[in-house]
Parts: sequence; C-alpha cells; structure tokens
Amino acid sequence: MPAQLINGTALSQQIRADVAIRAAALTARGTRPGLAVILVGEDPASAVYVRNKVKACAEAGFHSVLDKYDASLPEAALLARIRALNADPTIHGILVQMPLPRHINPQRVIETVSDAKDVDGFSVHSAGSLASGLPGFRACTPDGCMKLIESTGVSLQGKHAVVIGRSNTVGKPMALLLLQANATVTVCHSGTPDLGLFTRQADVVVAAVGRRNTLTADMVKPGAIVIDVGMNRDDVGKLCGDVDFAGVSEVAGWITPVPGGVGPMTITMLLVNTLESAERTT
Ligand code: GUN
Repeated sequence: MPAQLINGTALSQQIRADVAIRAAALTARGTRPGLAVILVGEDPASAVYVRNKVKACAEAGFHSVLDKYDASLPEAALLARIRALNADPTIHGILVQMPLPRHINPQRVIETVSDAKDVDGFSVHSAGSLASGLPGFRACTPDGCMKLIESTGVSLQGKHAVVIGRSNTVGKPMALLLLQANATVTVCHSGTPDLGLFTRQADVVVAAVGRRNTLTADMVKPGAIVIDVGMNRDDVGKLCGDVDFAGVSEVAGWITPVPGGVGPMTITMLLVNTLESAERTT
C-alpha cells in the first residue's frame, strides 16, 4: 500500500493561522511581534528564502525589517547592526541568513544575537538548552520535522528513529528533539559505511544530508515514517529531496514530499519562535 503523504503546506497553514490570531491579540495589547532579517551578499537561494520569511511575517501580521548588505560588508559593521537590533524593543527575533561571505565568522555573528532574540536557535545557549532539556528556542527545521511527525498521530515512545546527517542546524538538534520525545535515536552521516543496516531498523527516518537518492526503497522498513529535509536538484533541474520519493513511498507508511513537506515548516516555526519571544516580553 502506498504511503500516506504528510502535507507540510497544509500543516503550515493551520499553524500560521493560529500564529496570526495570537499575533493580533498581542498587537491589540500593544506588542506587535517583530522580526529582523539580515542578508549579506547576493546568493540567489538566500534571496528567495529571506523574501519568503518577510512575506510570511506580513501575512501573520508581524512587523519585519529586512536589511540587505553588499557582500563586502565588514564583519564589525554587521556585529554593530546586530547589537542595535538587540536593543530595539520593536524587534523580538533576529535572523542572519546563512551562508555568510567568507570574511565573516558565522559563529561570532550567531553569538552576537542576544539569547532572547535567537529565533533561529543556532547559538551555543539555544543548542545547550536543547541538549539539557531546558526551555529555549529550538532550531526551526528540526522543530518543524517534529510537528510533521506529530501530525501523523504516531507516538514516538519506544520507537527507533534514525537521523541521517549531523549538522548543527538540522541533524544534531533533530536527534535531541527525538530523544526528548522518548525515541531511541541513531545518528548516521556521510561517513556511515552501511546506512541501510540502520535505516531498515527504523520506525522513523529523517534524511538531512543534502544528497539525492540517499534513502531508497530497499533501505526502509515497511510502514516507517520518512521525513525528507533535502533540497536538491535532479538531472532535469527539478527540486528533489534526499529520498527516492517514488520508490520509498511504496514501502513507507508516511512520507513528506519535496516540495511541500519540511520546507514550509521551517518558516512556520520561525514565526512561532518570534511570536513566543514577543509574548515573553509582555
Ligand atoms: N540558511 C538556510 N537555512 C537557514 C535557516 O534556517 N536560518 C538561517 N539563518 N540561514 C539559513
């Protein structure tokens, strides 16, 4: 039986509708949620992402500021701008779009954003809060993946989850979120010799390596939940994930499409984090 589709677009719309209601209530009480988005350089994909983030803010009734800088912007100038936004009471979240030009140290930039406004959840403070099971901002993409898994109604209690990928932005926080939900978690990565050995035992697979066809039908346990974080292009330039969707959807119980799966959830969780940051100030 083919897998059921986990519709990230529909789930995003539901969550964003709730965010808009909460944002309107907060605005009526005198605090309009505000997000600052900073883009340095002309990376075309980043330009699309930041445009979508600003558009999503407007649709949810948030205030937003978009700062676009030339790729030659000195690091000190960027840090000074972040410090000014840290002190700006109309701004509750600060997002510096990655990647940054090579002359700018991304970790220094991330650590300059105040802990209270780190809505990307990338700072050592946010990552440490997650690792310690303390409250704090969760990285948006893995948090969105958790919402997609929850939407299936399948409990993670006692399940084996395999994460493919170990990045600070997706793989590592994903593993910690799954662990917090009581799954037994295995982290695989590009250096794992026999990936299928692990994924065939998994009730949940989250693929986040950035290489298409990383997960094929023969590597999936029948009925498994498959979450595809990948954003790649196939031979004809069509957007595709890390999962062989056609093959795996014949074996899995649930699967996210690309596009329309994880993608819309990342921005949705950014809105949720910004809203919660604003709610905390009142
Ligand atoms: N570049 C790609 N994804 C992201 C993201 O979620 N946040 C930031 N800041 N940059 C990104």
